[in-house]
Amino acid sequence: MDKLIVNGPCTLTGEVRVSSAKNATLPILVATLLCPYPVNFETIPALMDVGTIIKLLQSLGVKLTVEGPTTTLDATELANQHADYALVKTMRASVLVLGPLLARYGQASVSLPGGCAIGARPVDIHLMGMEKLGAEIHIENGYIKARAKKLKGAVITLPFPSVGATENLMMAAVLAEGVTVIENAAMEPEIDDLADFLIAQGVRIEGAGTSRITIHGVELKDLKPSAKPYRVIGDRIEAATFIIAAIMTGSDVKVSGLNPKHLSFVLETLTKMGAGLDVGPDFVHVRKSPRLKGVAIDTAPYPGFPTDVQAQMMALMSVVDGNSIVTETIFENRFMHVPEMGRMGAKITLKGKSALIEGVESLSGAPVMCTDLRASAALILCALKAEGQTEIQRVYHLDRGYEKIDEKLTHLGATIRRVKA
Ligand code: EPZ
Repeated sequence: MDKLIVNGPCTLTGEVRVSSAKNATLPILVATLLCPYPVNFETIPALMDVGTIIKLLQSLGVKLTVEGPTTTLDATELANQHADYALVKTMRASVLVLGPLLARYGQASVSLPGGCAIGARPVDIHLMGMEKLGAEIHIENGYIKARAKKLKGAVITLPFPSVGATENLMMAAVLAEGVTVIENAAMEPEIDDLADFLIAQGVRIEGAGTSRITIHGVELKDLKPSAKPYRVIGDRIEAATFIIAAIMTGSDVKVSGLNPKHLSFVLETLTKMGAGLDVGPDFVHVRKSPRLKGVAIDTAPYPGFPTDVQAQMMALMSVVDGNSIVTETIFENRFMHVPEMGRMGAKITLKGKSALIEGVESLSGAPVMCTDLRASAALILCALKAEGQTEIQRVYHLDRGYEKIDEKLTHLGATIRRVKA
């Protein structure tokens, strides 16, 4: 297992461009299962999770070709509608194949995704919605067995604005008969991007990005390839990670390739803490910031504070003046970075869903271990700031969702190197 060695404290300088968003790329690649023709994409990010979803799609019969920056997925002929546990267990977003397979073939057998480090992460809302669309669903030997002669449009009210359930149901509704309305839908920018992709294939969708999404079902023959390769939005979570890295290290860095509107709450919070940010149409320029002050944040569904930036924000809070409080309302176990940060001198006390962070003067390098994707990012941020050497183990967690982050940080002047295991 690779590890990263960071010698801090680092000062960063220059510009970094974020990759395409992991959490938009995954559902959009799955949506090609609906398309009986080749679909072209620009610049698919080289992430482990993207590799996993492509392997799963290929196991269903999707053909992959890569020519220069263009990646083509061709789901004209699918071989089967079975998503195997061996693949699904490594990445729970695999459950997103349920909607398109059920809609196009009237049947699907998809392994129940296991939980993961940050929580049980059930899929009950996904399944409730599919049943509302007329599917018969039962669980057999750890697999979701779903059947439906023809899905029928319905009004589906989600008990929680689940990102994955919203995406799964949007895709299922594309080939359902009639109109589907998803109430209390997730509003994340990645949902909006999935809708844009489906609209580019000829589907009529209104309200994506709001809590009420209307999808007008079409016949398979009505779906048509879009004129040019699809370009996925920039990764707002990766961008937030680099913005916080620059602030923590007192650096002047331009982070580009994102829509800053997708990070409004995060940018407002950072400004409230005293960060100097210049925001452009597709960039955030972090000016050298003085020592910041603590704040209180609750994670929440979009447009609230994103849970995927919680760990990175906690890294920043550990080195500001005064105390901060973080309350994690989305996942039940998303504080695993805390003990690892404690090994570097962070002063964090956990109490139920909340963490109290007391700002300290400095952190010290130490051997630490990644436990999940965003926790890994938080450890890198602490290592950039810490005095001395930090050895970060199990970086495969990081490689799931950050494309070449060590190379990008080296480009910005960090002293970071990957040691192949
Ligand atoms: C997506 O996960 C993201 N993953 C997550 O990013 C992100 O943290 C999450 O949305 C919230 O924003 C991808 O897009 C691939 P949810 P998802 O369904 O769809 C509960 C990262 O770091 N729930 O909105 O799984 C669930 O247990 C990852 O990039 C049910 O109870 O999130 C959780 O507590 C981590 N039943 C909450 O809702 C369901 O049927 C949010 O889950 C579905 C969800």
